Amino acid sequence: MKIKLKVNPFLIILIIILCSAIIFILAKSTNVKVTESVAPSRENKDTSFYSTIKHAAENETCLKCHGQSKFYVENKESGKTMTKKMYSELIIRRDLFYVSNHREFKCIDCHSEDYMTFPHAGNLMMQAMPNCLDCHGGDPKYAKYHFENIEAEFNGSVHVKRLGGNFTCWKCHNGHFYKITARPSENIKHTISYDNAICLNCHADSLNYQLLTDKENPNLITKHDWLPNQKLHFISVRCIECHTKKSTKDSTLVAHEILPKQQAVKKCQECHSTNSILLATLYRYEVKEIRSTRGFIKGSIVNDKYVIGANRNYYLNVLSIIIVISVVIGILVHAFLRMIK
Ligand code: HEC
Ligand code: HEC
Ligand code: HEC
Ligand code: HEC
Ligand code: HEC
Ligand code: HEC
Ligand code: HEC
Repeated sequence: MKIKLKVNPFLIILIIILCSAIIFILAKSTNVKVTESVAPSRENKDTSFYSTIKHAAENETCLKCHGQSKFYVENKESGKTMTKKMYSELIIRRDLFYVSNHREFKCIDCHSEDYMTFPHAGNLMMQAMPNCLDCHGGDPKYAKYHFENIEAEFNGSVHVKRLGGNFTCWKCHNGHFYKITARPSENIKHTISYDNAICLNCHADSLNYQLLTDKENPNLITKHDWLPNQKLHFISVRCIECHTKKSTKDSTLVAHEILPKQQAVKKCQECHSTNSILLATLYRYEVKEIRSTRGFIKGSIVNDKYVIGANRNYYLNVLSIIIVISVVIGILVHAFLRMIK
């Protein structure tokens, strides 16, 4: 009996490999590009866009002094003008203020009108500032942010529990510069550095840290030296990925319950695995958006983030097993044919 082989098994294998390569390349080419934020950049030096802001001219009453490192005062008696230094802590940068969430505000919407006079009255220092919830609580316009849930999580945080009423929302959300970045999520690296800078403003700045406590500020670098490639981790994940209770309220995008250090994430698999916590935290906004708009390939496997162990995909796994099995079968068939020949 003579076996006539019509199709070369190697050809089949070659076709399978080619096909999978094409699928992979196609999937990759439709990849989301991490684009630079389209909003005016934080370092925007172009001042022309201020003129589009409602109260920009009015705010100059304050910013003529608070907008830069020096200001002028006139001595009424001698008629002489003196140049004075504005303390760096009291400088409000226009480029940051006018891209922030509250850019449409007048300074005196939040601050007392009495600041219009200079020298400022001493008691103004004690002025109580309005709370986020005073304005945003119960307002359906902001329902998607779930302010009430955030407040509840915040009240359970280690900061409030240990530092009490001194620790307000404003400690992390600077009244002048805060701008949501996690939600549009245009540039995840920017979101990471923006959010981490919020924490580092105290945890890497002992003056700010010790405004709230007499404890020594622990050195973050040595405290995290168990983490290999620390630098890469600190630009690839946020502090809150490891330091918050994963929001049980599915509705809040950014978990606000900071836990004591003993409860922080230390296990590598929490991120480096298929059900990585990052999908529920850092990548959550994107995962939701992409899944709903672009279907499985983009949502599940091929996006810009590659985290070892976290990017496994069921279909790719099956495909690779099929390829391996076909190779083995191909070799066996080939060997068998040679033997009987
Ligand atoms: C002529 C310059 C000048 C003008 C105009 C001015 N400030 Fe000030 N401001 C200062 C200086 C100097 C300080 C620091 C000394 C002090 O606290 O009085 C200060 C301090 C402050 C503080 C910090 C107070 C504290 O210690 O907690 C706030 C808040 C403030 N100004 C808001 C305003 C607002 C709002 C306006 C506009 C309505 C304004 N300032 C206009 C010069 C000015
Ligand atoms: C959305 C509310 C809001 C607006 C608008 C606002 N501020 Fe403030 N400002 C705050 C809060 C909150 C603080 C911090 C108070 C605290 O923590 O004691 C603050 C603090 C300050 C300080 C003290 C330095 C600091 O950062 O703690 C200065 C100076 C100041 N503001 C000036 C201004 C000027 C000038 C404008 C207008 C360009 C302005 N603020 C607009 C909320 C606001
Ligand atoms: C004095 C009232 C007031 C306070 C206090 C206040 N906000 Fe706002 N906030 C507003 C208003 C009004 C807007 C809308 C501004 C606009 O549309 O230009 C706004 C806008 C925002 C936005 C953007 C909403 C969007 O969909 O564009 C966020 C986020 C936000 N605020 C968060 C906060 C947080 C966090 C705090 C406390 C740290 C806070 N706000 C404190 C009144 C306030
Ligand atoms: C320990 C720091 C910290 C404190 C305190 C804090 N926040 Fe936040 N919050 C953050 C960070 C970080 C983000 C993410 C900012 C981003 O990239 O958009 C955030 C985001 C938010 C957002 C936007 C969430 C979204 O869906 O986009 C809101 C609203 C908010 N916080 C409200 C509050 C309120 C209200 C309080 C006080 C009850 C508060 N935060 C206290 C750190 C803090
Ligand atoms: C305004 C300053 C300030 C900011 C902003 C801030 N922290 Fe803190 N944090 C403190 C202080 C002060 C303590 C010490 C509290 C104590 O032990 O008494 C603390 C404690 C902690 C602890 C507890 C450590 C322990 O001993 O268990 C963690 C974790 C923490 N912060 C994480 C964060 C993260 C994450 C962020 C940003 C989302 C952040 N903090 C933002 C001041 C700050
Ligand atoms: C990969 C997870 C991870 C990341 C990212 C991370 N931490 Fe931690 N952090 C931990 C763990 C775990 C501990 C407890 C370490 C220990 O006690 O051995 C800790 C400890 C701390 C402490 C307590 C130090 C002490 O001993 O008193 C602070 C404060 C803190 N981290 C803040 C931060 C800040 C701020 C960032 C962001 C710049 C950050 N962490 C990023 C996991 C993380
Ligand atoms: C909070 C989530 C998280 C935790 C916890 C975590 N990692 Fe990572 N790890 C990441 C991310 C995100 C990257 C960056 C991936 C990239 O951009 O290349 C990374 C990168 C790495 C890299 C570098 C890979 C490269 O491309 O060079 C190593 C090695 C690593 N992690 C090991 C560990 C080990 C070991 C632990 C436990 C001690 C750990 N990680 C804990 C999220 C995490």
